Amino acid sequence: MRPFFTILVTAASWIVTIASAQDEAPSCDRLCLEGILSDFLNAMVAHDPSRLPTTPDVIYVENSQKLKLGEGEWKIAGKLGKYNHVFSDPESRQVAAITTMTENGVGIIYVVRLRVEDDGRVSEIETQITRDAIGAARYENMTVPEPVWLEAVPLEQRISRERLITQTNKYYTGMERNDPKGDYSFFDKDCNRLEDGLQTTNQRNGDPYGHSNDTSFASLGCEAQFQTGFLGFVTEIRDRRYPVVDEERQAVFAITIFDHNGTVRELPSVNGTSNPIPPYFDVPRTLAASEAFRLRGEKLFRIEMTLTEVPYGMRTAFDAGESVDLRGTGTSVTAPDPCNYACLEGTKFNSSGLIDQVLEALLNNDTSKLPLAQGVRYSENGQFLALGDGLWQTITYVSKPGSNGHAAKFSNPAMGTAAYWGLIKEQATPGLLALQIKLEKGKITVIEAIAVRAESSGERGGTQTLMRPPLPIEWQGDDLGSLEPIVEENDEHNAIDPQLIEAYLNGLERHSSAEVAFAAACVRRDNGVQGNLTCAAQMNGYGSNPNGLFNTTTTIRDRRVLVTDVRSGLVLVVALVDYPASYPGPLPPAQNVPSTYMVVQLIKVKNESISRVESMIKWMPFGYTFAWSEQV
Ligand SMILES: *[C@@H]1O[C@H](CO)[C@@H](O)[C@H](O)[C@H]1NC(C)=O
Ligand SMILES: *[C@@H]1O[C@H](CO)[C@@H](O)[C@H](O)[C@H]1NC(C)=O
Ligand SMILES: *[C@@H]1O[C@H](CO)[C@@H](O)[C@H](O)[C@H]1NC(C)=O
Ligand SMILES: *[C@@H]1O[C@H](CO)[C@@H](O)[C@H](O)[C@H]1NC(C)=O
Ligand SMILES: *[C@@H]1O[C@H](CO)[C@@H](O)[C@H](O)[C@H]1NC(C)=O
Ligand SMILES: *[C@@H]1O[C@H](CO)[C@@H](O)[C@H](O)[C@H]1NC(C)=O
Ligand SMILES: *[C@@H]1O[C@H](CO)[C@@H](O)[C@H](O)[C@H]1NC(C)=O
Ligand SMILES: *[C@@H]1O[C@H](CO)[C@@H](O)[C@H](O)[C@H]1NC(C)=O
Ligand SMILES: *[C@@H]1O[C@H](CO)[C@@H](O)[C@H](O)[C@H]1NC(C)=O
Repeated sequence: MRPFFTILVTAASWIVTIASAQDEAPSCDRLCLEGILSDFLNAMVAHDPSRLPTTPDVIYVENSQKLKLGEGEWKIAGKLGKYNHVFSDPESRQVAAITTMTENGVGIIYVVRLRVEDDGRVSEIETQITRDAIGAARYENMTVPEPVWLEAVPLEQRISRERLITQTNKYYTGMERNDPKGDYSFFDKDCNRLEDGLQTTNQRNGDPYGHSNDTSFASLGCEAQFQTGFLGFVTEIRDRRYPVVDEERQAVFAITIFDHNGTVRELPSVNGTSNPIPPYFDVPRTLAASEAFRLRGEKLFRIEMTLTEVPYGMRTAFDAGESVDLRGTGTSVTAPDPCNYACLEGTKFNSSGLIDQVLEALLNNDTSKLPLAQGVRYSENGQFLALGDGLWQTITYVSKPGSNGHAAKFSNPAMGTAAYWGLIKEQATPGLLALQIKLEKGKITVIEAIAVRAESSGERGGTQTLMRPPLPIEWQGDDLGSLEPIVEENDEHNAIDPQLIEAYLNGLERHSSAEVAFAAACVRRDNGVQGNLTCAAQMNGYGSNPNGLFNTTTTIRDRRVLVTDVRSGLVLVVALVDYPASYPGPLPPAQNVPSTYMVVQLIKVKNESISRVESMIKWMPFGYTFAWSEQV
């Protein structure tokens, strides 16, 4: 597949040449595009994708996740709101809108981009849902966009489409690692920006900006804001796309990904007061951004944006032509082959095992002493990252197994796999790390990390993921107790039947323990909380939050058994649990939002039955998949 951006630019310039030479009318003009957009929105709230003409291979995306047409929002969209800000690009046959809607009765900001083929059928539907009911209400109060967005600009005042893109791109280049000494003259002196319908420039209400305590930033204009360097916590803006260029209105609709790698620890002083970085940025974060720009001449005059959070490092569903190879180059170090228990895990008070070395390497952000295979892959919460990115840069503490804390290491020498499960800290934010390494012929080929962070404690919702609903059981970062008893209790009857684990996951999916072998005294904890029901009763759906979730979750997919240790009877499993939120309402507020829960579990098997489950739950956008399942 050719990179999307290249196609866009080449095709666009080609059309410009033809069009100006022959003065041909485009096949679908503004009116036509706006009509298709309106058909789409009406089809969405009618829960009926068949009302929209689409190509057979139409791609449908919600918050960066590819879903089947008809899933997700199609099942729960409510009423269309009043606000409907449309951008049309007859040349690229794309149209986008920033609009409002209700979802299970709650207001959302809804952004959509459509690509229309020659024959009028839609081939790409890309949506971003910002679950900010207050932002949606602000838009409803505005009713319509500021008129300057909708005016046709006289021909002699327009700049070319290439120029519109070049000037817009300067915004992202300027924000990335925001250098206070940069040249920000691309902003119009009267520039203003809206974030979720809220003006965040030249605003003198004294409200703190974003997650920070800073009350001066929003009082500045666009250019003065960039001159403070305040936005330097955005460490990379990648996969920049400019799919809709509304030349007549001199507007550009852009879709980009903001990475915040967590290494920037201070906000620069805006008005004589410098601030620590908010705890939200203790851990690596990625935000998907939809932003519209209105230019006046060469300068950015209006900006209208909204963001939503996706897992760190999330790739875009639509190729922006930036393929990066994240495989590691390997080292010349080699581990013993075969590598036995002591080699993989070390011993109780001996941290010389391979898994210990990986933890040490993480703490030091230094992989040079590890036996790494060429092409080694690192993933964090299901996304491939470069070694040295993600929690390699933020981790500051790892609980040590054998010191009576919440930590365990275990392995399977026959499979060449080893695991760590334990409490960590990233800067000041506690987390639970589940780590798997895979060894082949003395070289590590895979390092897979799952990090569940305590996100709900602290001021203003703590570091709770932007726009995610509360979990049924939130982990506040408190100590999870010692794991030693279950690690140490080895016995000879720990043979682990893979079907036991499969039956367990099937049982979670079916909400039935009928075919699951639980020990009578089985103990289950979800996000550190132990209910008073048996493992079996919870699986059968009893109690307020059975298995830490709702009794209405559906599929359990992308099941990955990472490490099975027959000596200690410990199994590390991760799976994705879907919750479509499409049930006859009214649903409680926490159950309104389609969600996928990434559930990582430490399971103790004893005498061929499950005797203990430690389960940690992380919220993911609905339909999330591990990058592992996409590769060969
Ligand atoms: C919308 O306008 C009403 C009436 O002016 C006001 O009370 C309300 O606070 C506004 N809502 C938002 C979210 O701005
Ligand atoms: C900036 O600081 C000065 C002096 O401390 C104060 O008078 C002024 O109100 C502040 N401006 C803003 C926008 O906070
Ligand atoms: C914001 O102010 C509160 C109250 O003074 C303080 O507890 C908190 O640490 C501050 N947060 C940041 C990120 O500066
Ligand atoms: C730790 O265990 C490894 C592997 O069994 C062994 O080579 C090493 O000597 C041990 N170190 C200590 C300090 O006991
Ligand atoms: C961590 O290591 C990576 C890879 O070597 C490097 O690019 C990055 O700058 C390091 N980060 C920190 C904070 O040391
Ligand atoms: C993280 O961001 C910092 C600051 O922009 C940068 O210096 C560093 O290289 C980034 N780390 C990685 C692994 O890209
Ligand atoms: C079990 O827990 C629930 C909720 O935490 C509580 O309401 C109930 O009283 C408890 N039942 C018993 C028998 O302890
Ligand atoms: C939970 O869901 C299952 C499957 O839909 C159902 O059989 C069971 O009765 C439910 N449990 C409760 C307590 O409602
Ligand atoms: C193992 O489980 C079986 C039944 O599942 C039971 O009869 C037996 O006593 C158990 N053995 C031990 C050592 O607990």
